[in-house]
Amino acid sequence: MEEDVLVVKDIPVEGSSPKGGLISVWTLNRPDKLNSLNEKSHQSIKKECLRAESNDQIRCVVIRGASPNDPPEGKKRKPHSFAAGADISEFSGKNSDDVRPFFEDNAWEAVWNLSKPTIAMVDGFALGGGTELALSCDIRIASERAKFGQPEINLGLIPGGGGTQRLCRLIGYGKAMEMVITGEMLDSEEALKIGLANKVVSSDELENFTMDMAKNIARKSPYTIKVAKRSVRASLELPFSEGVLTERSEFVALFDTEDKEIGVQAFLERKQPEWVGN
Ligand code: COA
Repeated sequence: MEEDVLVVKDIPVEGSSPKGGLISVWTLNRPDKLNSLNEKSHQSIKKECLRAESNDQIRCVVIRGASPNDPPEGKKRKPHSFAAGADISEFSGKNSDDVRPFFEDNAWEAVWNLSKPTIAMVDGFALGGGTELALSCDIRIASERAKFGQPEINLGLIPGGGGTQRLCRLIGYGKAMEMVITGEMLDSEEALKIGLANKVVSSDELENFTMDMAKNIARKSPYTIKVAKRSVRASLELPFSEGVLTERSEFVALFDTEDKEIGVQAFLERKQPEWVGN
């Protein structure tokens, strides 16, 4: 039987409120092909995005790649990967009419458009569509052996999952241009330096570090988290002064929520807040 290209596990978060909070961990599961994203991966990610959006218990999403399988005797182990890009075998012989519908409704936008927080846990290669998937997440935690890159130029292509745009906004025009036109990979140290990775830890620590961060986020008010994400995102779309006004109106509106009163009282009474989520 063919294995699932995306393995999904919902992990309960102790101390979350409203009770029953979950972290949804999505593992790209094609390790023999370095977790490259084929059409099925996209369909599965889009389906999970719909589920995550409609399930109030899911408070945070973590996306990761499966570890390499044990190699057959005499063969070399394949390298660790988050995702080594789109599945290049699916590009062969296709023309623009063939690929347009797929690219118009893709997993990178579905992840980007989630109202809930998302973390990419990057261990090994994140190339092409893999870097783009990490860019579609809100936060990128990388291991020391992570490598990022946009090598599409070497295939006679450019990034097609929002990479040119999201890279410019995250790491700036100069570095984005360098990555896209040289196709060269960056190691984790450089990724951290330019802000592509939020944090770099050892491979052994990566899972615990990422899950601790996800739990921390999952224990906040799910309503306030959505407002926070929406407000930071507004900076990408709006002129500065309009963005400041948008933030102010979101901030002021929070004074009508129960969770603001719960958070403030919990602080004053030195208790843990028990959020109601509105
Ligand atoms: N699409 C489809 N298959 C891919 C792939 C991709 N993006 N990236 C790797 N693979 C497959 C290889 O074909 C190989 O399959 P096989 O063992 O059945 O022949 C397997 O994954 C292992 O890759 P391999 O190239 O042998 O590993 P490596 O350690 O020598 O090199 C990379 C690792 C990441 C440098 C190399 O695989 C690579 O450059 N991949 C393509 C990256 C890319 O251009 N991504 C952008 C796509 S738009």
